[in-house]
Amino acid sequence: MPTPVENPRDPLRETEPELAVPLARTDSSAEARAVFAPLCAEHDLKRCLLRAFSLAEASTQHQPGVRQRALGQLQRFVRIHDRAEHTTVYAALLAQPRTRRLAQVAIEEHHALDAALSDLAEAVAAGAEQEIGERIGRYRDLLTVHLLREENELFPLAYQVLGSERCLRMVRRFRDVRQAAQRLEE
Ligand SMILES: [Fe+2]
Ligand SMILES: [Fe+2]
Repeated sequence: MPTPVENPRDPLRETEPELAVPLARTDSSAEARAVFAPLCAEHDLKRCLLRAFSLAEASTQHQPGVRQRALGQLQRFVRIHDRAEHTTVYAALLAQPRTRRLAQVAIEEHHALDAALSDLAEAVAAGAEQEIGERIGRYRDLLTVHLLREENELFPLAYQVLGSERCLRMVRRFRDVRQAAQRLEE
């Protein structure tokens, strides 16, 4: 099970407090989480893959192939999930005035996460041990905030604005798109 994070640092808490990531789940986020269960399950897998990479990093520093493989699995999973999210969930939420800003924030976070993961991969490829530790920490912080924002804020708002039927269709479409993307990568 992923470790719960007590107090993730969310930059929006200062500038746009109404969009800051809620730390606790609410009743509506529990309902939304049921509808968005396939995406939330993938979030748990992302957390586990990052944990697996951190463990590989800590225990196999002299076996670069092991940590490269763990990092490659994380990168591939993130790429497929995030692309499917862009073309289904975010595309629908960008089209709605009430959900647009939050979708934009989530897209900006994907870009920051991509950059942080590339930096981490660079450090791993160079065998730069100190940077690897720092960059894992940076990536983990960004990922924690992003996943909580989707689970506790974005999905509940989508559920509220679009309703359960449309959200269920959107989630089915997400699954189709991500399965097709996965087949292409195999
Ligand atoms: Fe997600
Ligand atoms: Fe996302």
